[in-house]
Amino acid sequence: MTHEPMSASDRVPMSGVRRIGVLTGGGDCPGLNAVIRAVTKDALFHGIEVMGIEDGFAGLIEDRIVPLDRRTVGNILTRGGTILGSSNKANPQHYAIGLGDDGKPVYRDMVEVCMTTIDLHRIEALVVIGGDGTMSAAKPFADRGINCIGVPKTIDNDLWGTDLTFGFMTAVSNATEALDKVHTTAASHHRTIVVEVMGRNAGWLALHSGIASGSDVILLPEIPFELDDVCHTVETRAQRKFGFTIICCSEGAKPKGGKQIVDRVIETSPDPVRLGGVGKWVANEIESRTGIESRSVVLGHVQRGGVPVAADRVLATRFGHAAMEMLRMGKTNRLVVMQEGNLSDVEITSAADKQRLVQPDTDPLVEAARSVYTCFGDGLTKVV
Ligand code: F6P
Repeated sequence: MTHEPMSASDRVPMSGVRRIGVLTGGGDCPGLNAVIRAVTKDALFHGIEVMGIEDGFAGLIEDRIVPLDRRTVGNILTRGGTILGSSNKANPQHYAIGLGDDGKPVYRDMVEVCMTTIDLHRIEALVVIGGDGTMSAAKPFADRGINCIGVPKTIDNDLWGTDLTFGFMTAVSNATEALDKVHTTAASHHRTIVVEVMGRNAGWLALHSGIASGSDVILLPEIPFELDDVCHTVETRAQRKFGFTIICCSEGAKPKGGKQIVDRVIETSPDPVRLGGVGKWVANEIESRTGIESRSVVLGHVQRGGVPVAADRVLATRFGHAAMEMLRMGKTNRLVVMQEGNLSDVEITSAADKQRLVQPDTDPLVEAARSVYTCFGDGLTKVV
C-alpha cells in the first residue's frame, strides 16, 4: 500500500480522525493482542483505518508499518504476546544506533525520523499500549501535534494512576499455579521452597499470588525482611508432622538494611536494571541457618506467557474500546485508567517516573494475609 506523505497542515481535528497507528512497547504482557483487536475492530467499525507499527517505536524509526484489518486481528484474542512485536530499547529520543570506538552505544534523537514515517503513512493519531516508559516516549509526538492515547500494560500492576493494568491477573494466575505445584515436593520432602516472582519494585504480583497459593511467607520490596523472622517461621513449621514451608519472594525484596539483588544492567534499555537472585540467596541463608533443606525456583518469563485469563481479555477489550472512544470524542493525550472500578483517563505522561506500590500499613490485602498467619518477615506475624 502506498500513501502520499502528509504535512502537518493536513492534520484534521481528532474528532475527524481517519487513520491511526497502534504500537505495543516495553515487555510483552498477556492481553496485548486483545487490545490490538479491540482497537482495530472499534476503529474499523467507525470507518477509521488502522496501521500496525512493528516492535514499538522501532517500527516508526525503521518505517515498519503494516495495515491491520478484520482478518489480521482475527483469532488473536486468546493469544499471548503481541502480533506487532515489542521493544523495550526503542526510546525515539535516545535510540542506540550502534557502538562507538570505545565500544559503548552511540545514541541519537530519532523523533524527526519517526515523524517522517508518521506523515508518510498519513497517521493522524497513535494508540500506544505499554507501561510508563512507553507513555513517556510518546511525549515528543504529543508535543508535535500527534494525538497519543495510552493503554496501560504491565504484569507488575505498578503503573501510577490506575488500580489495574491488563496482564496482571494472568501473571498472578501463572505464578499461583507454579506455587501450587511446588507444594507437592515441599510437602513430600519436608523442604522449604522459595519461589521468586517478578514485579520489579512493586510487590503486587507476590502479594496476590502468595495469598492465592496460601504461601507461608511472602517477601515484598515494600516490607524489608529480617532473616531471623523468616527462619523462625520455617523452624516452627518444620516441627509439625511433615512440616514444610512455601515462600513467595518478590524479585525486588530485600533484607532490612540491605539492598536489592541486581541480576544485570542493560545499558541500552530505558529501564536498565534487571532484578533477580534474591530467591536463591534467601533459600541458601535459610538452609545454612536452620539446617532445613531449602530450594529455590525463579519463575521468570513463565509469568508473562500463555493465554490471557478471561478477566484480562475483558479488561483489555474495555481499555481498547475506551481508547478509541476518547479519540473519537476528541480527547487528546490521555491514558485510559481504571479507578475504583470505573474507566477514566489521566494525562498520558502523568504516570512517568512514579510507581504504585503496596502500602503495607493500610493495604487490606496485607491485613488479610496476616490474619491467616502469613509471615512477611517483619516480625509482626507469628506462626503458631
Ligand atoms: O515489567 C515487567 C517485568 O516482567 C518485570 O516484572 C521484570 O522485572 C522485567 O519486566 C523483566 O524484563 P525483561 O523481560 O526485559 O527481562
